[in-house]
Amino acid sequence: MFKYYIKTFGCQMNVNDSEIIAGQMEQMNFTMTSEMNEADIIIFNTCCVRKKVEHKIYSMAGKVSQIKEKKPGVIFGICGCLAQKEAENIQIKVPSVDLIFGPSQSSSFADIFRLYYSNKNKIIYCDNRKPFRLNNISIKYTNNISAFVQIMKGCNNFCSYCIVPYTRGPEESRPIREILSEVNHLARNGYKEIFLLGQNVNSYGNDIPNHCDFLTLLSEINRINDIKRIRFTTSHPKDFNINLIKTIKNGKNICEHIHLPMQSGSDNILSRMNRKYSMKEYNNIIKQIRKIIPNASITTDVMVGFPGETNEDFENTIRAFEKIKFDSAYTFIYSNREKTLSSFFSNQIDLQTKKKRLWKLIEIQKNISININKQLIGEILEILVDSKSRKGIEYQYCGKTRTNKIVIFSVNNNNFLDNDKNNIIGKLAYCKIKHADAYTLYGELVDLKK
Ligand code: SAH
Ligand code: SF4
Ligand code: F3S
Repeated sequence: MFKYYIKTFGCQMNVNDSEIIAGQMEQMNFTMTSEMNEADIIIFNTCCVRKKVEHKIYSMAGKVSQIKEKKPGVIFGICGCLAQKEAENIQIKVPSVDLIFGPSQSSSFADIFRLYYSNKNKIIYCDNRKPFRLNNISIKYTNNISAFVQIMKGCNNFCSYCIVPYTRGPEESRPIREILSEVNHLARNGYKEIFLLGQNVNSYGNDIPNHCDFLTLLSEINRINDIKRIRFTTSHPKDFNINLIKTIKNGKNICEHIHLPMQSGSDNILSRMNRKYSMKEYNNIIKQIRKIIPNASITTDVMVGFPGETNEDFENTIRAFEKIKFDSAYTFIYSNREKTLSSFFSNQIDLQTKKKRLWKLIEIQKNISININKQLIGEILEILVDSKSRKGIEYQYCGKTRTNKIVIFSVNNNNFLDNDKNNIIGKLAYCKIKHADAYTLYGELVDLKK
């Protein structure tokens, strides 16, 4: 019997694609292993959003080549966004590779594998215009509490720095009945949380004539009672509107967490990034969210060192952070990507300046996050318990608030636990918050939700 190993790089979309590939492996009766050395099939599901991750992938691919020297029968596949971007380069740099396929081919893995197995010729299959269909594919979800569900593929926005529209192709929505059928299936199997995925969920449905929009999709999923938490990512500020805020407010199962990538606090940079909104518009959305859902958490993505970013542009980003006070932020150093418009911009920023800006921003955000989190001390929050904690004896379990904050908590009253001490995993619980730092809340279980 074959053993397979999958290493995933990149975003949640890629994690879900790996689950889709794993599902097909299981249907062929292959078993998963977490040891690359033991595997008969090794798959790297890759990312290329920044240069750094590419280096890492190529260096890890070298290790697979060494394994193949000892065990020539091992099948090595490289898929995902890097495969889509540079199939030719991969063949040159990693001659030991057997399968190369793009992200749009994840659901065809079984066919690709069978074809390879029957004639042993290297396969390269990278058509990102292949129709997006996931029905009849069995998915091996990573856990049994919370699941990713793709609602659309691709992106039409062409932000000037971004490779994703080239790797994942044009936007294509998945029909609502297919999504509802997957979510209902998850609900029947005891899942409590779903995470709707798309590069720009606000444009869901736009590509299918007479199809419903994202708000209708959210409302329909909100009617599936057993799914207690609905999350989604990513929202693009240019398409974000007040009706979405109201839908979140009124949907009792829709979590009060909004991830709204700002990218920069400078209008000049935003315009050269082709983001299609100004800081005035962005701030306006934030104001509306705070007014309608005062307890919502708001998180963001931001980049430093975009070509031509002056000290003043960067100061504008800092000022925006200080004014908006995000709950947390993913901060990135701008990285030139082949084909993208901004890689042709002449006024590139040197690495040292980029690093200094990044550190400064991280430090500022850390203090903001600590202050926001400390305000939660003393509150009792609803947690979806997802695992045992690795923090030692005092804090035994881990979970997340509706606002997507990690809570590590103790259970001091054993009446909540049964003999195997696992029975609260997957349950909704109430925790009193006792301590907080920038990234985590610490608390104590006070009750289980009935
Ligand atoms: N569709 C999503 C996510 C895209 S990739 C969105 O629109 O927000 C996730 C994040 O990676 C982006 O939000 C951006 O902050 C960052 N990113 C994308 N391209 C990058 C690049 N060339 N260099 C550095 N960071 C980048
Ligand atoms: Fe990239 Fe912009 Fe599309 Fe997000 S919206 S995937 S940043 S092009
Ligand atoms: Fe995701 Fe990386 Fe592709 S962030 S969309 S896996 S380039």
